[in-house]
Amino acid sequence: MSKDLIIDRNASKKERYEQLIPQMESLILGESNSLANHSNFCAALKQTFNFLWVGFYHVIDDELVLGTFQGPIACTRIKKGRGVCGTAWEKKEVVIVEDVDLFPGHIACSSDSRSEIVLPVFDNNGEVIAILDVDHSELKTFDEIDHIYLNRLLALLK
Ligand code: SME
Repeated sequence: MSKDLIIDRNASKKERYEQLIPQMESLILGESNSLANHSNFCAALKQTFNFLWVGFYHVIDDELVLGTFQGPIACTRIKKGRGVCGTAWEKKEVVIVEDVDLFPGHIACSSDSRSEIVLPVFDNNGEVIAILDVDHSELKTFDEIDHIYLNRLLALLK
């Protein structure tokens, strides 16, 4: 397998997700180690969209604990209901933030972050076991397209 992602930088966001999905599939489906897969998942997403930060927090002992990520260093533990990540966990739903300065309680791990999307990851019983957090250095970068395609990509990790 080629180790280079092939993504048309001039394509629309939707087209880039469409180009990424089969390549993510071939990266992940042949590998059983979840740490390896989470690592490549974050790297491929960051590389495709030039995101500031892509990473997972895992629910451990009633806190979110930092997992695999790509990007600047980040806070290691987040409580339920705190910040964007803790809110997505508590509400069990995606949270899209167009401007982090307008989100009460936003946790600024990096001062370069301007917008973000956080998606809960569920187990088979509907319990949140992790969250995926994606940050961008520009305002208003995430919408329903990201929500749909990031969920499709997350399904590859199951
Ligand atoms: N901004 C997040 C914290 C995690 S970092 O951005 C990586 C939040 O408000 O929950």
